[in-house]
Amino acid sequence: MNDVTAHLDNGVLTLKLNRPAKKNALTKAMYTALTEELARALSDETVKVVVIAAEGDDFCAGNDILDFAQDLPVYQDETAAHDDLPVFRFLKAITFFDKPLVAVVQGQAVGVGVTLLLHCDLVVAADDARLSLPFLKLGLVPEAGSTLLLPQRIGHQRAFEWLAMGQVVPAEDARQMGLINRVVPLENLPEAVAAFTDRLRVLSPSALMATKRLMRDPETLWQVVRAEGALFRQQLVRPETQAAFRAFLSR
Ligand code: COA
Repeated sequence: MNDVTAHLDNGVLTLKLNRPAKKNALTKAMYTALTEELARALSDETVKVVVIAAEGDDFCAGNDILDFAQDLPVYQDETAAHDDLPVFRFLKAITFFDKPLVAVVQGQAVGVGVTLLLHCDLVVAADDARLSLPFLKLGLVPEAGSTLLLPQRIGHQRAFEWLAMGQVVPAEDARQMGLINRVVPLENLPEAVAAFTDRLRVLSPSALMATKRLMRDPETLWQVVRAEGALFRQQLVRPETQAAFRAFLSR
């Protein structure tokens, strides 16, 4: 079974994280699949909108921690170009993606499961959604451009508190901070998403893409993603971070 599924319906391409037994934690293979699907979506003019959603009770538990632990030699090798790693290829794809991106979140969203939402144009969440950013608790630095995007959206003090304390933020609080457009009961998620996608897919694709380009600065954002990535990689190989991963994996 594919850990990422793609389904195109009436101009709306839905990419679904499909690894619910592992809370949809993102593996290298999943980043690669998502990157390929986003590239296909850009080149297929019948795709008007892309929806990122997830199977099961939870949206995404962040990067797969076993992958982090197993890839230690890659991260330790300072000569290895990190732009070639699957995660960076994915981050580049969402940073420069200029068709509308809609995220649908239920249950837990952790780490990159939250920071990828900052790249989406609309976010719809179930009222059970909870967002957490445990990077600092794990000895890591925030990634995916979140050191730029999060303070931009919610202000430095709130962003710093959230990152440093790592508290779990309920969907409604995230909505009030401006990170989520709609919070609805879980059973109403499909219709809340359709309410957006039905309207987006009939708008002029070129006007939508131009608007998105005018509203964002992907070149600057990409420089931040790369700078964070270099520091992330340094922190990843530190003993305290490796100990945090081992503690999680040996629970
Ligand atoms: N990487 C790898 N496996 C993960 C994972 C991750 N990021 N998150 C969850 N899993 C796995 C668990 O190991 C477990 O596997 P098992 O059933 O084979 O033991 C399964 O998914 C279910 O997770 P579990 O922790 O039992 O579910 P929960 O509902 O009690 O808690 C979370 C859910 C998301 C709060 C918890 O799994 C968690 O904290 N995950 C790690 C999040 C994280 O730190 N991500 C990295 C950020 S950089």
